Amino acid sequence: MRIKMYKIKFLPEDKDCEIKGDDSILETAVKNGIHINASCQGKGICGKCKIILKEGAVEQRERALEFLTKEELNKGYYIACLTYPKDDIEILIPPESRLSEHQMVEDIKFEKKEKVKNFAGIAIDIGTTTVAAYLVDLQTGNIVDTASSFNKQMSYGEDVLSRIEYSKKESGLEKLNTVVIETINKLIEKLIIRENFENEANINRISKIAVSGNTTMTYLLTKRDPHVIQKNIQIDDFKRSYYLKAKKLGIRSSRTTDLYITPGIGSYVGGDIIADIIACDMHNSDEVCLMIDVGTNGEIALGNREWLLVASTSAGPAFEGPSTKYGMRATAGAIDNVTIEGDDVRYGVINNDKPRGICGSGLIHLISELFLNEIIDYKGKFIIKNKRIKTGGNGIPEFVVVFGDETDIGGDIVITEKDIENVIMTKAAIYAGAATLTKVGVSLDEVRKVYIAGGFGYHMDIEKSIVLGLLPDLDVDKFEFIGNGSAKGSCLILTNNEKRKEAEEIAKKATYFDLSTDALGEFTEEYMSAMFIPHQDLDRFPSVEMKTR
Ligand code: FES
Repeated sequence: MRIKMYKIKFLPEDKDCEIKGDDSILETAVKNGIHINASCQGKGICGKCKIILKEGAVEQRERALEFLTKEELNKGYYIACLTYPKDDIEILIPPESRLSEHQMVEDIKFEKKEKVKNFAGIAIDIGTTTVAAYLVDLQTGNIVDTASSFNKQMSYGEDVLSRIEYSKKESGLEKLNTVVIETINKLIEKLIIRENFENEANINRISKIAVSGNTTMTYLLTKRDPHVIQKNIQIDDFKRSYYLKAKKLGIRSSRTTDLYITPGIGSYVGGDIIADIIACDMHNSDEVCLMIDVGTNGEIALGNREWLLVASTSAGPAFEGPSTKYGMRATAGAIDNVTIEGDDVRYGVINNDKPRGICGSGLIHLISELFLNEIIDYKGKFIIKNKRIKTGGNGIPEFVVVFGDETDIGGDIVITEKDIENVIMTKAAIYAGAATLTKVGVSLDEVRKVYIAGGFGYHMDIEKSIVLGLLPDLDVDKFEFIGNGSAKGSCLILTNNEKRKEAEEIAKKATYFDLSTDALGEFTEEYMSAMFIPHQDLDRFPSVEMKTR
């Protein structure tokens, strides 16, 4: 039987495409390079791919109703991966399903008025979610401008594993390579236009580019097959740095612009973590330092000038939105802090917008407040009854953080017991990763400095993170935020050949601790003990024990 074809218009892009009768709206959007948030990659389990039908008829799988409130149904909301066309259709992608350019990580201070005097370089941090570029005056070493945007690969999967899966599809690798180069070129374009560098004479003044990214991102940038990342923990290719001409990869530059790609250490500890280490300089410290990059993977480094251990914890994306009912990235409309007093819940929202969801720092605040107010127990289960606790449609208890009349989504914003469980699993993985590394013979008490890296890490509340059991219970003064350490490290590598050599030495000398195979069972034991708030062993969290007495 011939499958019917229909027309589909995507708004606000105003893009006309064709859709096969048996293709979901999400599949069609991906094929046409249109982004709809899709945390579960169209498996129909996250409910994040909401769209609004403006015209035409569709058929939606019944399961979609679990994710839509009455108000949303009345407004014509559908779940894109569970909805199929029955006619020519026009759909609107609402703000909550689009990538917001607010709150992009540009946390490196620089003097905007300064212009490049002679030659410039560009440091690029390719994150799975965000790509950031920094224009640096090579004479002064100062950053003169920055630009960042979402990685266009986001439309093909939100994490590295789904990108690797996408690369297995026909032309998948080419597509992922093309869109990341497009993302980089757009940023370079922005920087050179602002610097009046557009003409070819001036583009020659960009003499070098340095790139750092996780292992998957650097493989996709250089169009290497990333399947090896799933199959191998450590191979020489992961530790290899690249010296190329940028133009060869299709990067907007002159024919002579050099490109350097920072080496990585293992399958899930890449050049971005080496750049983090360079940024905090722990590899030159006499004392033992701990560095935690809080992202989807939760990478950890422990050591000093003598030795370095690194690990990746597969922490999961609970702090980035996908695995909690109203989770979202730290963009406009996200609740990022919460205080509870009795029945009263006070909250702060990014940009002072009406709330649409809760970002990672909001979740840390919220769960630690629920715990300190004895609304949940140490397992994250609700232990009292009050007007904010109700039973959700699927029978799971939930706590109303904001009632529907105050939200931008026309319904309550809640946190469910399942959400709390997901956050506990994520924080347990990060804490257990750090605790396992210290089993080489140093205790957490011997750690003199704890560096917190990552865009999200920058917004973390240390005390609340200790209450949750995400960070070890150390003196608050020992913690230092380094923000986007990967970008900072890339800038140093760009401008200082010594730092480049140090990056290559770190790649050789660091020991990759494979927590996934966990031959001695140490990580599993630590992980199970950390599956409580703050921890099964309260002796490890004396400050929290004091607060709960
Ligand atoms: S992408 Fe549609 S429900 Fe997750």
